[in-house]
Amino acid sequence: KKLAVFVSGGGSNFKKIHEGCSSGLVKGDVVLLVTNKKDCGGAEFARSNGIPVLVFPKQQRESSDGLSPKELVDVLNRYSVDFVLLAGYLKLIPVELVQAFPKRILNIHPALLPAFGGKGLYGMRVHKAVLASGARYSGPTIHFVDEEYDTGRILAQSAVRVIANDTPEELAQRVLHEEHKLYVEVVAAICEERIQWREDGVPLIQSKE
Ligand code: GRF
Repeated sequence: KKLAVFVSGGGSNFKKIHEGCSSGLVKGDVVLLVTNKKDCGGAEFARSNGIPVLVFPKQQRESSDGLSPKELVDVLNRYSVDFVLLAGYLKLIPVELVQAFPKRILNIHPALLPAFGGKGLYGMRVHKAVLASGARYSGPTIHFVDEEYDTGRILAQSAVRVIANDTPEELAQRVLHEEHKLYVEVVAAICEERIQWREDGVPLIQSKE
């Protein structure tokens, strides 16, 4: 399967997914990297690995030559993209893209949705909110993307214990470690078409025989 990954930052999840593809664990290829930050770590990694980089959306001051959402969809189709994977992409996905790729866009969030998500809850703020709440567990959530932030159908989660005296940074690091494992497993599953949609709309991952 052909994958497009969207990043805004360091891109550690993207690197793990790319690694999974190279090792054969994931039967897919990252054919395009999309970023709103043209010099971020994820974009640099893509360039040095021969993966084309597309900047979307462009910064406001350069917006005159930016792609429209419709043109972004056209580019993804030109690359025959099967799945779009958001991995630390901090912009809202245009509705045109959501509609063009139904059930084919995934996002990873660093807490157990539906708690601790939504607009404005990203990065370290998420982990601070988890610690402030007194929750005993956190962990990554991978979900399908709809028109809002963090509200699409949950596909996979994994639990990370909150330790007394955790700092947001320490918790973030342990959650990120789980994110890497979970995202690679889930991407392997979607590439092998091991997602089953229950009648009530809940997606389930079938384990490998
Ligand atoms: C991850 O914590 C992810 O859950 C969140 O942004 C972070 C991205 O990290 N959406 P990286 O760029 O993959 O290292």
